[in-house]
Amino acid sequence: MIEFILNNKSIKTNLPPGMVMLDFIRYEQNLKGTKIGCREGDCGACTVLVGELKDGKVKYQSMTSCLMPIGNAQGKHIVSVEGINMQDLNPVQKAIVEEGGTQCGFCTVGFVMSLVGFCMSEKDSNYENAIAAMDGNICRCTGYKSLERAAGHIVEQLKGRDKNQIIPWLEQQQYIPNYFSKIPERLGSISKSKNGMIKKINVGGGTDLYVQKHDSMIHADIEFVFDNSALKGIKREGNTIYLGASATVEDIRSNDMMNQLFPRLRKHLKLISSTPIRNMATLAGNFVNASPIGDMTIFFLALNAGLTLNNNGVKRNIQLKDFYKGYKTLDKAPDEIIETIYFDVPGKNWYFNFEKVCKRTHLDIASANSAISIELEGSKIKSMNAATGGVFAFPRYLQKTCEYLTGKEISVANILAATEILQIEIAPISDARGAAEYKRLLARQLFLAHFLELFPDKVNAEELFQIETV
Ligand SMILES: Cc1cc2nc3c(=O)[nH]c(=O)nc-3n(C[C@H](O)[C@H](O)[C@H](O)COP(=O)(O)OP(=O)(O)OC[C@H]3O[C@@H](n4cnc5c(N)ncnc54)[C@H](O)[C@@H]3O)c2cc1C
Ligand code: FES
Ligand code: FES
Repeated sequence: MIEFILNNKSIKTNLPPGMVMLDFIRYEQNLKGTKIGCREGDCGACTVLVGELKDGKVKYQSMTSCLMPIGNAQGKHIVSVEGINMQDLNPVQKAIVEEGGTQCGFCTVGFVMSLVGFCMSEKDSNYENAIAAMDGNICRCTGYKSLERAAGHIVEQLKGRDKNQIIPWLEQQQYIPNYFSKIPERLGSISKSKNGMIKKINVGGGTDLYVQKHDSMIHADIEFVFDNSALKGIKREGNTIYLGASATVEDIRSNDMMNQLFPRLRKHLKLISSTPIRNMATLAGNFVNASPIGDMTIFFLALNAGLTLNNNGVKRNIQLKDFYKGYKTLDKAPDEIIETIYFDVPGKNWYFNFEKVCKRTHLDIASANSAISIELEGSKIKSMNAATGGVFAFPRYLQKTCEYLTGKEISVANILAATEILQIEIAPISDARGAAEYKRLLARQLFLAHFLELFPDKVNAEELFQIETV
């Protein structure tokens, strides 16, 4: 039995927990406001808000209902457009209408939900954040300018918002109906655990599984690990950072400690998918999916991260770089789950960079990606970890390239010599994301780009990229 609140209605259902929320809302509840576009998390037409009770408050995040199994809704508040509709249009809906931000209207509900989610979030209510909130929504008609203007109006109107009283303020200003204030109390009486479910397939956010095998997931026997409290959280103990396997990309991106360690974290992780997908996509999901271009995998390979695996109580540790054995082949028993990801707290003279090339900047998977971490001692490289994706059967840790540069000065000659070794470590194939030769070139250029980004005082672009000046 799954129990949650949909809009203002308490739900108890014995439907298969693998069914996606989009189908539950439209076909079981007959709420047709939420639209079906791609069913692959790309278009945002199906966006809903998912509220979770934490410390007495409900935190709402946008998610794509087409990839969200109803099993992941246990103990939560799901909000579709019907749940925010009132007698009159709310200020978000009005701003979109007044600015001509809707034409055929197919995408409109998704945009409305993303912007209402922005109004409900504790993030600063500035224009940049309003635009970022819509990064998972595609519109084929408007050209976006009208939607951007609407976002601008909403930001203006939110200036009077009290950050400590967001929900009451939004209710008072008629952004959302008055039942929202009672949701924390109502969620408090629903258990967060999913009892009585048989456990065969681990589902995190479902953003890979529901794209790859949408139909068979509905009746699959699922272990929902997304909300498993043992797999959540980000903490420091001594000189090690531990991340729960179900930490989402957004959990990491919004974590203060991680932002202190990685000053460019927000920029780097904004290159991954979109706001609703980042709210769902877990670290373990990315690692186990084993895509050669998994962005978080490349990121954590460059930290030389370790994994703790748990097989019915029997635990073992393994380096992430040893986890991959071949294309989609892992050093993991079928019943083993990833529990924790850990890495050493970097020292003082430590540098990190992440690069990604795709056909469009946002909401696209990489043609190639790359990450590097370097610790210096004086002017020499004391230790180094680097990885590149899209150029091998699995995310490639560049063992020999790193070994070559360790102990050496950062100089153009040394770095160029290292790229020769890098070329031996990779074996790209031609596919939809580019020809093998193109990917070889990308792997080289991204590797060089790290040094240009991190050490502009030691290397220059002309020499590094061997640009001929006239
Ligand atoms: C629109 C869209 C855009 C995307 N963009 C990007 C992108 O830019 N970059 C990128 O790298 N990826 C991208 N992805 C892919 C996906 O979002 C990520 O790979 C994500 O991290 C997968 O996590 P999940 O929790 O959703 O995985 P799920 O689909 O839940 O699971 C994936 C696999 O991991 C297994 N699994 C999950 N948790 C555990 C665990 N704790 N232990 C053992 N096995 C586990 C599952 O059984 C399954 O085999 C995108 C996906 C979509 C739909
Ligand atoms: S239907 Fe396109 S993102 Fe869900
Ligand atoms: S208004 Fe037609 S797709 Fe956006």
